[in-house]
Amino acid sequence: MNTDAVVSYTVENKIAWVRFNRPDKRNSMSPALNRRMMQVLNELEFDDNVGVLVLTGEGSAFSAGMDLKEYIREPASRGLGGVREAQRESYGWWRRLRWYQKPTIAMVNGWCFGGAYGPLFGCDLAFAADDAQFGLSEINWGILPGGGAAKVAVELLSFRRAMFHAMLGEAIDGKMAAEWGLVNEAVPAAELHARVTEIANELLKKNATALKATKDAIRRVGLMSYDDAEDYLLRAQEAAFYYNDEAKTEGIKQFVDDKTYKPGLGAYEKGAAS
Ligand code: COA
Repeated sequence: MNTDAVVSYTVENKIAWVRFNRPDKRNSMSPALNRRMMQVLNELEFDDNVGVLVLTGEGSAFSAGMDLKEYIREPASRGLGGVREAQRESYGWWRRLRWYQKPTIAMVNGWCFGGAYGPLFGCDLAFAADDAQFGLSEINWGILPGGGAAKVAVELLSFRRAMFHAMLGEAIDGKMAAEWGLVNEAVPAAELHARVTEIANELLKKNATALKATKDAIRRVGLMSYDDAEDYLLRAQEAAFYYNDEAKTEGIKQFVDDKTYKPGLGAYEKGAAS
């Protein structure tokens, strides 16, 4: 167990469980938390003992968004420079998460508000407790959903839902969040850890280079024309092979020659050729 105040993590069976760790402040994101989270992401990104990263929260919250005192009010008292510095630190680790080397899963155990939509979207997959609460609460304290939150709503929700969510500032529960597409699934809180572990273990069976290329492709192609996407994907596929010798041959061989698995039903056996 490595605990460094505002962020804690454990690595078990190639899964890194990274936790927002300010439960008394509902895991709201302070500058100190944002700085520490970037360090933790750096520490884990190329650690061979880590194959999947799960982001979750200690206590009753995933994260209650930005710390209104330490992230919003105090930096503002230092002027524009203070504001921009705080923004760079939070946006910085969310961006790092969006393009992280390892697959990432948000495990939303409780409150998830405003700024927390940055890391929520930063994670490739998201699973919630049925009774978790999601809200763009900004309108309730008098600002627009900044820090990328409005963008996340538009990326993940229909126009009408995004507009309703942002304008009304009403929280929805995990079940509704799954129905709306904010998360992949919602399950009873008692089953959340087991379900996320199950998904992480499935990811661990896949070729790691192919997973990174795949997650990047899904994020990139949305903004491209079909022709641009086709071209990007062709080049991304060839670039992925550069660091991925095994996938050039082994996946096809085990299906076509050895007949030991079916790609439609599961992953090939990694490392079988070595
Ligand atoms: N920024 C700063 N402090 C926060 C915070 C935030 N976003 N969210 C919670 N806290 C603090 C509270 O001020 C309180 O501190 P205190 O013990 O020093 O008084 C502590 O965390 C516990 O919060 P509390 O409101 O008593 O917990 P709760 O479980 O009853 O309610 C929430 C949880 C999440 C509904 C409520 O804390 C809340 O509305 N938070 C703000 C959500 C928000 O709009 N975030 C900003 C989005 S960008």
